[in-house]
Amino acid sequence: MSETLVIPSGASKEERYRSLSTQLSALIAAETDRTAALANVTAALHEALGFFWTGFYLTKNNTLTLNVFQGPIACSRIAYGRGVCGTAWAERRTIVVDDVDEFPGHIACSSLSKSEIVVPLIKNGKVLGVLDIDSDKPAMFDDTDRKMLEKLCETIVDTCF
Ligand code: SME
Repeated sequence: MSETLVIPSGASKEERYRSLSTQLSALIAAETDRTAALANVTAALHEALGFFWTGFYLTKNNTLTLNVFQGPIACSRIAYGRGVCGTAWAERRTIVVDDVDEFPGHIACSSLSKSEIVVPLIKNGKVLGVLDIDSDKPAMFDDTDRKMLEKLCETIVDTCF
């Protein structure tokens, strides 16, 4: 694909995700360097969906370690079971948080972040990392985000790891 994203104007959130997923699958299939592939996924999601913070943490030495991202600087290490990311890792499931202030142990990298979704990357039963997305508006993530991001993360795991 070219280095330009084409997102239908006036499209619904689901249509934007669908259009993005098709283009991103082709993009990451054509790139053998994992960092390069994940960097473009991050930029594409961030730009097409207008998130506040979009990025990956990958497990290294039994800690989630900050990887490629778009948005303000963030905490670089997250322990197993800590915050939304560490909880998604421990519970091996997507976590959607409508109000980050209500999530026990939420790690606030920015006071502007209001809601969050974290999707674990799982291969052969092992959590390799998480995709973490924050919005500066409350309750921005619903079942469409969960479904579409889980599908995208499956493609990422199959293609990049
Ligand atoms: N809020 C996350 C920390 C990472 S930042 O949002 C980028 C958490 O509680 O795990």
